[in-house]
Amino acid sequence: MAEIQKGLEGIVALETKIAYIDGIKGILEYRGININEIMKLSYDEVVYLLLHSKLPTESDRTKFINRLRDERVIDEGTINIVRVCNFNIEAMDALRTAVSHLSHCDPDLNDNSLEANLRKGTELVAQFPTIVAAFWRIRNMEEPIPPDKTLSHGANFLYMLRGTKPTALEAKCMESDFILSAEHELNASTFSVRTTASTLSDMHSAIISGLGTLKGVLHGGARLAVLEMLDEIEEPEKAENHVLNLISNKKRVMGFGHRVYKTFDPRGIIFKQITKEIAEDTGDLRWFSIAENIEATVLREFVEKRNKPIYPNVDFYAGVLYKYLKIPPLLSTAVFAIGRISGWVAHCIEQFADNRLIRPRARYAGEHDLPIRFL
Ligand code: ACO
Repeated sequence: MAEIQKGLEGIVALETKIAYIDGIKGILEYRGININEIMKLSYDEVVYLLLHSKLPTESDRTKFINRLRDERVIDEGTINIVRVCNFNIEAMDALRTAVSHLSHCDPDLNDNSLEANLRKGTELVAQFPTIVAAFWRIRNMEEPIPPDKTLSHGANFLYMLRGTKPTALEAKCMESDFILSAEHELNASTFSVRTTASTLSDMHSAIISGLGTLKGVLHGGARLAVLEMLDEIEEPEKAENHVLNLISNKKRVMGFGHRVYKTFDPRGIIFKQITKEIAEDTGDLRWFSIAENIEATVLREFVEKRNKPIYPNVDFYAGVLYKYLKIPPLLSTAVFAIGRISGWVAHCIEQFADNRLIRPRARYAGEHDLPIRFL
């Protein structure tokens, strides 16, 4: 049997045309377009690119954006499911439950044709923000706010969350977060999505697998951990000692390190620029300064002194950005999922188009031929 690669590190499990990563040079492309160029698109256009493998014509673009905006509304049954959630949980758990409910209502639940999956996927992309915002409103004894079709995906989410329209800069930041979070090749949650799809299960089930995997603190849950770390540190002068304490206690600095990137994560670089812009705009540099001090200490301690490639990953400055956007920590991983759902849908479609069951092997390390003996 082949050598075990713990955590499947370095294993190439399949071919994809959705994203390209060079973890040494720090390059990320969505469908062949560099992430820095991708930032010139709206989230709606990125969704089209990911789901349809190309950018739309002008008329397809208009039709698709209108369609996404029409589909934002969720039915009363799904809102009622959110109403009976336990509100001490993360929005992520409520989102998982709501997607499960949506699957019950979908007439094409078990139809895995391209046409059905494009329809189901487009609806899920449109509805994720509405579900997450409804969870937060209901939790706070407030009625959910219906989506506003005139607003972008990012602006509309903040509007449904707060009840007031965000500033142009806040809207741009939220859009950027969704775009940067949309897709990242065969990360853990996407692998889960594809594994579920590979059994010829349905798209909703595959997305639920992705949600469960994204929640973990080593993956999307790191954004929540970053927010908690910022709160714990409180002041920029305390950041260095906080990091040194983590290192001396052999604890991980959340939002740092990556399985694939051994240099700066290109998404992290963009997140940092956007976060700086909004911090300067608010005139409150406290969270950004804490973050910069954490980053400087991690780079000095790991990269310079220990020659270990531990750089800020996508979750670090995303967490800091959420501070400025006033995203409640309980929502942070679900907000990541609002962006990532488009990548998951694209991978589901790609998996169904050329499917082979994903089923690796494990090397047995137990005993053999034991007699039955009750203890
Ligand atoms: N802080 C401190 N040390 C770290 C960190 C970190 N954030 N990340 C890795 N290391 C160290 C490990 O202790 C290990 O050291 P050792 O070789 O002396 O034992 C070495 O770097 C390699 O770490 P692994 O866990 O083997 O690396 P792996 O590729 O399995 O882990 C992971 C990647 C899980 C992302 C890791 O870097 C980590 O735990 N980071 C913190 C959590 C986080 O930010 N997750 C979000 C990742 S991005 C995303 O999923 C969207």
